[in-house]
Amino acid sequence: MLHFRYPLFDNIVNFAKKKINMEKRYENLVSRLAGQPCVKVLFVCLGNICRSPAAEGVMRRIVEEGGEGSRWVIDSAGTGRYHIGQLPDNRMRVHARRRGLELTHRCRQVCEQDFDDFDIIIGMDSDNVRNLRRVAPTPEAEEKIVPMAAFVDMAMRYDHIPDPYYEGAEGFELVLDLLENGCSRFFACCRK
Ligand code: 4NP
Repeated sequence: MLHFRYPLFDNIVNFAKKKINMEKRYENLVSRLAGQPCVKVLFVCLGNICRSPAAEGVMRRIVEEGGEGSRWVIDSAGTGRYHIGQLPDNRMRVHARRRGLELTHRCRQVCEQDFDDFDIIIGMDSDNVRNLRRVAPTPEAEEKIVPMAAFVDMAMRYDHIPDPYYEGAEGFELVLDLLENGCSRFFACCRK
């Protein structure tokens, strides 16, 4: 019997398996949130000036449009400390504004207290998730960490939210596309 290897096919199958496992792992946490009177979510990236403040703005609009503005506490933070106190990156603000979002968050660094203050902490990529695990004070706290890509439709074919800092306009648009998709799917899982 002959066996042929199709590397592209293998990659697609592995990607799909990873996504399915991811969704199972986080199902319990998210279904608990659906029963809560208040949902507190913290979005985290490296700099807290591009992806996570954009996620905060996108999520805020989605919950308001869904009539749940008063049920949600939404914030963002960075694992790094380079930009503390700054507004989001001007390029991110321009691209977000084109979609009707004003980003006014001031950069801050994620801290241990965040694991008490928030129900779920969503990291934009695997580096963010790894760094968040280092900050988590207990194994129970660590269970609150979920990668953003767990909520992004598999059809978008991204297993992380790519850092746009050294990219052009397309990088910022891609981030917003992935966040609009992931945040609306996250909201659908949690809504009352
Ligand atoms: P963010 O993007 O993690 O999406 O906010 C970055 C912002 C700043 C830097 C890197 C990524 N930086 O190296 O300063």
